[in-house]
Amino acid sequence: MTDADFPISPEAWEARAREVLPREIYDYYAGGAGDEVTLSANRDAWGELFLRPRVLVDVGEVDTSVRLLGEVLPHPVVLAPTAFQRLAHDEGELATARAAGATGSLLVASSLSTVAIEAIGAAATGPLWLQLYVFRDRELSADLVRCGREAGCRAVCLTVNVPVQGNRERDANNSFHLPNGLEMANFSGHVQAHMPEPGGSSGLDRFIAEQFDPSLTWDVVGWLLETAGLPVVLKGILSREDARLAVEHGAAAVIVSNHGGRQLDGACPTARALREVVEGVEGRIPVLVDGGIRRGADVLRAVALGATAVQIGRPYLWGLAVAGQRGVERVVELLVSDLRRALALTGSTCLREVDARVLAG
Ligand code: GLV
Repeated sequence: MTDADFPISPEAWEARAREVLPREIYDYYAGGAGDEVTLSANRDAWGELFLRPRVLVDVGEVDTSVRLLGEVLPHPVVLAPTAFQRLAHDEGELATARAAGATGSLLVASSLSTVAIEAIGAAATGPLWLQLYVFRDRELSADLVRCGREAGCRAVCLTVNVPVQGNRERDANNSFHLPNGLEMANFSGHVQAHMPEPGGSSGLDRFIAEQFDPSLTWDVVGWLLETAGLPVVLKGILSREDARLAVEHGAAAVIVSNHGGRQLDGACPTARALREVVEGVEGRIPVLVDGGIRRGADVLRAVALGATAVQIGRPYLWGLAVAGQRGVERVVELLVSDLRRALALTGSTCLREVDARVLAG
């Protein structure tokens, strides 16, 4: 397949991926919690923010670079942690890591990967963070953090919105579980590596209920800072109060996220929550956002509201499913070139200088 054969729009990538993926895998990636209200609201909420272009500005050169935790990134599109990527393509997380390097994208590797963090680190040629779920067996999580640090991860991204799993009815209906031959590679050799057979729910639902620690409180941030010796980023913040607490507990950044609509259905779309989180941090740490970002204009809108960078999840999984590494690269390239176009068409030359003036009142 050459680039000319690839889909162009994000919807067309998803449609192509849907054709190639088995139903239960497509549903696992595409699905949200409950009635999937938050899932679709995430997408719609960006579209509700209209733009206010300026004209007759020299946009012959536009600069999409951003600075995040001491690193200059050529663009603000971060590959979000997504689980079990070998379900989408045989090379799974390795293809994604290579694509991240080739496109200059920061990659956040999921702790629920089907390739171990050591191998992801070896394949990565760009900046890498490790996403973490804290298990009831704290030592297992501490070990993974140590492996991540040795593998070259520059920050740990703690997911804070999964004390219990969201109500994923598609997965329950499909009895979703990992097929034979795939495991949670970071926990290989431990009982935790194998998702239990589903019994009336999905295997992942049972795994999370058995393994994830539902009693975590803000103290976990101090524990993680000490254990990791790396910056700690909190993913899953939606309120001003939690944004403030994140700063007070030493977080290096926060990610406004409702887990792609996969946790609390009815939770606020991230385009709306971003404003109050930005107010809560008062410029003290960077804010990232994910959920429904599909177009360059969405990235611009997020930056206008105060985000430093954005994460995408499903869009690159569709690229991975359709064409492995090259598919992920192409999805990112299309989004970044759409961002460049959105900058030019709003009369903005430098993404870092974009602010709320680019939004219509
Ligand atoms: C894993 O993080 C999931 O949302 O399924």
